[in-house]
Amino acid sequence: MTFLLTISLYLLTANLIICSITTQYYQDLITQRTTDALEYKLPTTNNEFKQGIESENTEDYGEFDFVIVGSGSAGSVLATRLSEIDDFTILLLEAGGEEDDFNQIPALWLYNQFSEKNWGYYTIPQKHSCLGMKNRQCIVPRGKLLGGSSSINAMMYCRGNCKDYDKWYQLGNRGWSCKDVLPYFKKSENSQIHGDKNYHGKGGFWNVEYPRPDSPLYQNFVNGSVELKQPIVDYNGKNELGASHLQSNIKHGKRQSLATAFLDNSRQRRNLKILTKTLVTKVVIDPKSKKATGVEFVTSNKKFHVRTTKEVIVSAGAINTPQLLMLSGVGPKDELSKLKIPLIADLPVGKNLIEHPLLVLMVRSDYAAPKVGINKLIQQYLNGFGTLTKGPNVEGVGYIQTKNDSSEVPTIEILFSVPPHIDTSIFKREFNHNEDINNKLIDKIDPQKDIFFYIVLLHEKSRGRIFLNSSSPIDFPHIDLNMLEGREDVETLIAGMEYIQKLLKTEAFKKINATLLEVPICTNFKINSKEYSECLLRNLVATIYHPCGTAAMGPNNGHFVVGDTLQVHGTGNLRVVDASIFPSSISGHTSAPTVMVAEKAADLIKKEHKHL
Ligand SMILES: Cc1cc2nc3c(=O)[nH]c(=O)nc-3n(C[C@H](O)[C@H](O)[C@H](O)COP(=O)(O)OP(=O)(O)OC[C@H]3O[C@@H](n4cnc5c(N)ncnc54)[C@H](O)[C@@H]3O)c2cc1C
Ligand SMILES: *[C@@H]1O[C@H](CO)[C@@H](O)[C@H](O)[C@H]1NC(C)=O
Ligand SMILES: *[C@@H]1O[C@H](CO)[C@@H](O)[C@H](O)[C@H]1NC(C)=O
Ligand SMILES: *[C@@H]1O[C@H](CO)[C@@H](O)[C@H](O)[C@H]1NC(C)=O
Ligand SMILES: *[C@@H]1O[C@H](CO)[C@@H](O)[C@H](O)[C@H]1NC(C)=O
Repeated sequence: MTFLLTISLYLLTANLIICSITTQYYQDLITQRTTDALEYKLPTTNNEFKQGIESENTEDYGEFDFVIVGSGSAGSVLATRLSEIDDFTILLLEAGGEEDDFNQIPALWLYNQFSEKNWGYYTIPQKHSCLGMKNRQCIVPRGKLLGGSSSINAMMYCRGNCKDYDKWYQLGNRGWSCKDVLPYFKKSENSQIHGDKNYHGKGGFWNVEYPRPDSPLYQNFVNGSVELKQPIVDYNGKNELGASHLQSNIKHGKRQSLATAFLDNSRQRRNLKILTKTLVTKVVIDPKSKKATGVEFVTSNKKFHVRTTKEVIVSAGAINTPQLLMLSGVGPKDELSKLKIPLIADLPVGKNLIEHPLLVLMVRSDYAAPKVGINKLIQQYLNGFGTLTKGPNVEGVGYIQTKNDSSEVPTIEILFSVPPHIDTSIFKREFNHNEDINNKLIDKIDPQKDIFFYIVLLHEKSRGRIFLNSSSPIDFPHIDLNMLEGREDVETLIAGMEYIQKLLKTEAFKKINATLLEVPICTNFKINSKEYSECLLRNLVATIYHPCGTAAMGPNNGHFVVGDTLQVHGTGNLRVVDASIFPSSISGHTSAPTVMVAEKAADLIKKEHKHL
């Protein structure tokens, strides 16, 4: 008896000690990284690979069946699926490094952007939007590590509208209609939510759960939405239109990137080799046959060439994929000839850049979130709940139609983000606003009290583009998002702002005395006039980080880059598998659709090489 008691006391003490060591570890980690992020200087070139790029010698790295460029959302899924076939050998090349304990903490997601986990891109100075940002440049974060952008993103799991994919099909892409792609969404999913029957997968690699617990404000959002006649739905289910609870790619409260979800299950396979800190600088394409035969890459300050017996698959994301294709001779003829890059295929690579413009409105109410100390937050996190598990603290999602048409496709997405907001100092780096706006807006935020409404324009009419600055892989590509060029985009966002005004007038929001924080800019316009709203939009609109469409899928008619099997037009043994191939916009976020594309691509590739 005494013996047992001693043992259990001993275990309890050991547990407490381990627990406090862990808490201390996380506390130090969080302090260190959040401090570093405020000072971190983002790179402006790929200088870290310079020595390798400029090296005189090229070493032979042998031969693989497949080389996959980029281990991001798509690359991680694809490498895992292809390596299921024992006969295939796969080399997966990733420019960044590994994940760690910090990037897995959902609430601190923004800080990863100010570390070596982000490529460091900004737009070129903009004409129609980002006007309130320093030098009129918006930030364009992109994950540079295993898992790619899924290792630094906001973890919101939103597939988009069924009709989005029917549109892909209508553009001439066989096998990409809504009913064709639904099985691929379900395949990867391990759903823990109460969703619509027949729309969710169980037992897949990628976890989907509700962050918990909800703030009391969530019920105000639901009630307010109901007052505005919005149905309460599962937005990834039968009907997207309406109000919902957010679904998130976390597992027991931790980020589950696609590297964690997929590669952790495959990286020990003998037929899959992964190299990190490795930049692919060129796809080698035979100028006569136009077939891809391998790639050139640099790692550890050395340059290598690797051959492929089957395919090169580019999964470098919507910014780097077009850059790499153009560096390899696949792109618009006139642009490549200006840079003296020998032409392989004349295709509109880098054009058709689609984004989701975002306006954030801050609302003050009588509600204040309770203050919880960091130790307690860490303990909660380690037990799978609480503020640290909650990404941008979004709880409510609304897919809203601001137009009267019968398309059943939303025009606007509303994200309802509740307090507390972890820290406001990082917002200054995140939005890149000029000093005036920082003083008038960001400094006014009360992190315990303020609700953030994100208004996302789902189907922008404006198009941007990615183009090369030079023929050197050391240089970053130029990114021109060109948001809000078209009037219609401004009008739709204004309709979104009006929707929020209506929501704030509902009983549910009046109850908590919710009022919009004023932004004292654009004061030369009459408040609440169209001109005033337009001025706010052009100054404050940023992106919700969803670039896609830069190697769009469609028929070989000069408007598209890849066909419906994702092979690059006019070439052989070369595919693109990532968000670049989306031919048109998604009524949601881009991670889940990218995973769907990779799942489907894996089957297309297996089929072509007679393994399905
Ligand atoms: C900050 C942020 C928040 C976001 N929030 C959400 C969200 O909440 N929900 C959602 O659905 N979507 C979100 N997204 C978007 C989503 O994460 C991306 O659309 C998706 O991850 C794109 O996948 P991808 O495979 O196309 O590219 P990526 O995941 O970016 O992968 C590209 C990979 O290729 C590597 N690479 C690039 N060039 C080279 C090269 N030359 N050599 C070697 N490797 C290379 C990169 O390092 C990277 O790992 C967010 C994105 C960001 C950046
Ligand atoms: C929401 O509506 C329900 C049903 O009408 C009501 O019981 C509840 O108190 C409301 N909650 C809030 C926060 O408005
Ligand atoms: C749509 O139509 C309804 C009734 O036909 C009308 O009440 C509503 O204001 C219209 N909405 C918009 C955004 O035009
Ligand atoms: C473009 O390239 C030139 C010359 O290589 C370089 O000096 C400049 O900084 C580059 N610009 C950007 C935005 O990368
Ligand atoms: C409601 O909010 C406004 C603006 O924040 C404030 O001036 C007012 O005193 C508040 N009213 C109540 C009843 O709290």
